Amino acid sequence: MKKEYAPSTDLIPTPVVLVTTQGTEGHANIVTLAWVGVVNSTPPMVSIGVRPERHTYRLLKERGEFCVNVPHRGLVHEVDVCGTVSGKDTDKFALTGVTPDKASRVTPPLIRQCPINMECRVAHTLDLGSHTLFIGEILAVHRDASILDEKGKICLEAFEPIAYCPGVHDYRAVGEKIGWYGFTKGKMP
Ligand SMILES: Cc1cc2nc3c(=O)[nH]c(=O)nc-3n(C[C@H](O)[C@H](O)[C@H](O)COP(=O)(O)O)c2cc1C
Repeated sequence: MKKEYAPSTDLIPTPVVLVTTQGTEGHANIVTLAWVGVVNSTPPMVSIGVRPERHTYRLLKERGEFCVNVPHRGLVHEVDVCGTVSGKDTDKFALTGVTPDKASRVTPPLIRQCPINMECRVAHTLDLGSHTLFIGEILAVHRDASILDEKGKICLEAFEPIAYCPGVHDYRAVGEKIGWYGFTKGKMP
């Protein structure tokens, strides 16, 4: 049976986030991105892959700052809108009705309705072909108390993040817990 296919990025699912940027003039922008990942722990860093034709790309180049806002499932409509409309001529804060909050370390605003926000400064940029990789150092993090458990840890049941499935283009809710880090320790044959 056929198993090998032409090379493609079949990592599925991926996170999906709302990234805010602010240029030197004009309104702040929101873009939906799925080419997103954790790339370093100390200092904490995340990467975003952005096509040069995006309005977001221009704003990132202008200011070198962005905020990663992690949505819950109730924001799936806003996620799709911000991923299908360009901020070049549209104010996506006005279009979606989400609320901009002032960030503490960078100029782009946070999205109040997202339970997690990370303020980032671009530390490295790498042109890869279709996309440019922006690696951002996380300068500040915000977490809604409503998604934290009694120990202050993020509780997935309260958060209800969205996963994106490239290729099939689905948004999915994150499902049941099936294990935890190190749960096999001492149990291997
Ligand atoms: C679920 C989803 C994920 C997306 N991921 C990316 C991505 O990782 N990189 C990218 O350049 N565009 C991505 N896009 C496309 C942009 O979000 C879209 O072109 C957007 O309208 C660009 O907005 P802007 O012109 O205001 O920057 C994605 C769209 C959707 C719906």
